[in-house]
Amino acid sequence: MKKYKWGIIGTGRIASTFADAINGCPDAELYAVASRTYEKAEAFASRTGAKKFYGSYSELAQDSDIDVVYIATPMAFHYEDAMLCIENGRNVLCEKSVTLNLSQLDKLLEEAKKRGTFFMEAMWTKCRPAYLKAKEWIDSGRIGKVEYIKADFSNLVQYAPGDRLFRPECGGGALLDLTVYPLTLAIDIMGSEPEELISSAHMNKDGIDLSDSLILRWNDGRFASIDAGFEIPLRNNAVISGSSGMICFGDWFFSSCDVVLYDRELNETERYSQPNEVNGYEYEIYEVHRCLEEGMTESMLVPHSGTRSVMRIMDRCREQWGMQFPQEK
Ligand SMILES: NC(=O)c1ccc[n+]([C@@H]2O[C@H](COP(=O)([O-])OP(=O)(O)OC[C@H]3O[C@@H](n4cnc5c(N)ncnc54)[C@H](OP(=O)(O)O)[C@@H]3O)[C@@H](O)[C@H]2O)c1
Repeated sequence: MKKYKWGIIGTGRIASTFADAINGCPDAELYAVASRTYEKAEAFASRTGAKKFYGSYSELAQDSDIDVVYIATPMAFHYEDAMLCIENGRNVLCEKSVTLNLSQLDKLLEEAKKRGTFFMEAMWTKCRPAYLKAKEWIDSGRIGKVEYIKADFSNLVQYAPGDRLFRPECGGGALLDLTVYPLTLAIDIMGSEPEELISSAHMNKDGIDLSDSLILRWNDGRFASIDAGFEIPLRNNAVISGSSGMICFGDWFFSSCDVVLYDRELNETERYSQPNEVNGYEYEIYEVHRCLEEGMTESMLVPHSGTRSVMRIMDRCREQWGMQFPQEK
């Protein structure tokens, strides 16, 4: 396999973690980084070993030596940053939530299709070994018919007006930051969008959802229950219950290295553990490389259809809460 040259847009928290993952993958090279300011790009490059650094996102997007760009800006900027890259012919791995809404995502997918470029949401959970093992157990009938999913994710964050999480113009709120994970799991495992969605959120005075609760119901009787937010401590666990057994991830299900299979009487029947090779983000890097190697424009682990379903449900939630981002008004 060739060594793939990565570019990173944005120099915040996750960009640093992802740079460590790139540096830990033998087939990846941290080739370039771009910041809105030259100084930040230079500091990030010297910290992470990126070969090139740019003081604007557009300069990086125009660098045709880059094989794939990882976008690590706040949600509200994913659309313009990804569009910039796609229009310049770049392949893109874009952080979650992929856009503010489905309409923005569809425009990106249309442009990527027109240009023949690869596009994937950086939904790293779906590429992780423990998650793939759970899907293998489900596909081979180990828990029978999946009937119920319970998943939650809390991240206790102190209110800070400057933090992207609390700024509507940055795409803030628990929905796009946290709820997207358990919702993605539920849609991926159930394999379709629910017929019914009941959702509620605790909104703050700035129009940011601090805590969310969702119930998804499929017409054949299947359910998923999802809680997420910045305010209440939760187990950050995911449980998938079927007619003849149950699957539980370790705490922090979205990054869990462990997954356990139980029978209907709750006896443990199998346990799978796979320690990270680097820091956990290497698996989505491997998946991108595999797709590029095979000339694919879409990942089968993180297909566009699944990302679209999740965005459509999040649009429906916000409609139920009367929540709009400033860019949508
Ligand atoms: N997969 C995961 O586990 C994971 C974890 C955390 C976050 N995320 C996702 O990654 C993305 C970034 O999150 P983060 O926590 O890394 O954010 P962050 O620390 O705030 O960094 C965001 C970066 O985006 C750039 N940016 C561009 N326009 C900006 C603006 N108007 N305001 C603030 N920053 C701006 C900045 O880089 P420059 O100043 O250098 O341009 C900034 O450093 C989000 O989509 C988030 O959902 C994913």
